[in-house]
Amino acid sequence: MKGIHRIGVMTAGGDCPGLNAVIRAVAKTALGRHNLEVMGIEDGFLGLVQNRMRPLTNESVSNILTLGGTILGTNNKVSPRKYMSGTNGSAEPRDVTDRCLEHIAHNHLDALVVIGGDGSMSVASDFVRLGINCIGVPKTIDNDLWGTDVTFGFATAVSIATEALDRVHTTAASHHRVMIVEVMGRNAGWIALHSGIASGSDVILIPEIPFDTNIICEYVVNRSKRGKRFSIICISEGACPKGGQQVVSRIDPTSTDPTRLGGIGQKVADDIEAATGIETRTVKLGHVQRGGCPVAADRVLATEFGDKAVDLLDAGERSRLVVMKDGVVTHIPLEDAEGKQRLIPLDDPVLRAARNVGTCFGD
Ligand code: F6P
Repeated sequence: MKGIHRIGVMTAGGDCPGLNAVIRAVAKTALGRHNLEVMGIEDGFLGLVQNRMRPLTNESVSNILTLGGTILGTNNKVSPRKYMSGTNGSAEPRDVTDRCLEHIAHNHLDALVVIGGDGSMSVASDFVRLGINCIGVPKTIDNDLWGTDVTFGFATAVSIATEALDRVHTTAASHHRVMIVEVMGRNAGWIALHSGIASGSDVILIPEIPFDTNIICEYVVNRSKRGKRFSIICISEGACPKGGQQVVSRIDPTSTDPTRLGGIGQKVADDIEAATGIETRTVKLGHVQRGGCPVAADRVLATEFGDKAVDLLDAGERSRLVVMKDGVVTHIPLEDAEGKQRLIPLDDPVLRAARNVGTCFGD
């Protein structure tokens, strides 16, 4: 491969099912097909700052396709431009980009494959501007990365959330309760929309459509009057009432993206119970959605994405993001995805189908 002998691969940002499948695909394609050396950088950009990396071999990436998490470790707090060495956030952020560049040179890395979300792609774009070759591979359960129709990890998270919703369905019916399941997704409602539809949730609440609690209560009461004495609500952690605000569960001062959402499900439960008298319970699904082995679709997508990343380097590309567009794995300029989120458009066909089958969105 012209000018490329050794590459570094890292997983950065929050973990998601399928990361190991990408690492495996990158390493196996690079080692077997192109005779490259592959270094696994540990804990995302933190490993680059601290010069922690290890060679990946066919042996070390064998048997990891179905494994959840990432064998390299990850980190969703480190940005080399604003590096905080303390754990409590009290230290002043420092720019340690030069240190990363030194470690890239010292380890003779001719290119980086960065498997990450929007924050990681911004860092990778920054590196490209400083002369480093970077190929990005989009990951996140949230499916909110701009430029790609889908990210790996999303299908698994949807399947886990759907199973949880299916399970609360039976207990809600037995106890004649409203059951609310709060799912992840940050400012995008993709997980809620897809798992809500797959589970036949009666109400789906997403950040893209601010809700009115009165409308939800009316819907739940009407169902009760028609003999359906229970309701299932799937709510995204980023959903918020009309004119209201998102519920923040914690602020992490050590993180470059400090706000963690969570808790809106309980708030809606309290409001529904107070207004209707119907017993209402909440399940906050949390990190269960990010854990465990990837579903088959994510394993396939991750393998295609990893293979494409190496393919792009072979084709002489030095700053691209692997994406899925209209069913085809292709690529766009890395910087195109920088600082952008892909939210659900209001004319999304899946959203339209849900409305047509009578799902309430609280609007
Ligand atoms: O971006 C993935 C995600 O799981 C979001 O859905 C969620 O809001 C966030 O990460 C949680 O972050 P942490 O793992 O830092 O709590």
